[in-house]
Amino acid sequence: SSNESTHMEKTLAMIKPDGVFGNYTDRIKNAILGSGFSIFKEMIVQLDEDSAATFYAEHSSKSFYSSLVKYMTSGPVLVMILEKENAITDWRALIGPTDTHKAKITHPHSIRAMCGLDSEKNCVHGSDSTQSAQREISFFFKDMFAGGVATEHDEL
Ligand code: TYD
Ligand code: MG
Repeated sequence: SSNESTHMEKTLAMIKPDGVFGNYTDRIKNAILGSGFSIFKEMIVQLDEDSAATFYAEHSSKSFYSSLVKYMTSGPVLVMILEKENAITDWRALIGPTDTHKAKITHPHSIRAMCGLDSEKNCVHGSDSTQSAQREISFFFKDMFAGGVATEHDEL
């Protein structure tokens, strides 16, 4: 029988517009695969304003929200479902801190240190909890969970 201590987990990863435009896709995928993740699904998406606003709805009251939505719609993104034991925590660790400037000092080998530009254009996204992973995977890959929560992005 399978090892019951093994807990395969899925998380949502995204290469943001600056990562795609900066030609970091291959380097980021190499880091992903080299760290033991498998890429379960992937898709290139051009977010529109409504979709980007919905994806980041938890930040709607923040001062950076409108700028963030504008940036996220500035070009295509590559979304991926990553699979691994402890995928959610381990992907967050691999991408490093939100603020790229801080990442370069405290986590120099992180993906954001490698390719992020600042605290907005930070190259990659990662789900931060089991709940957000499920929401964000459903957001882009509607058929992944039966009765998925996201229904407001049919234009994708
Ligand atoms: P947040 O969820 O705090 O960071 P993370 O992406 O590490 O989960 O913020 C979401 C995104 O909002 C972040 O990736 C970039 C943008 N952002 C800014 O533009 N300015 C900021 O000061 C912060 C905190 C975030
Ligand atoms: Mg976050």
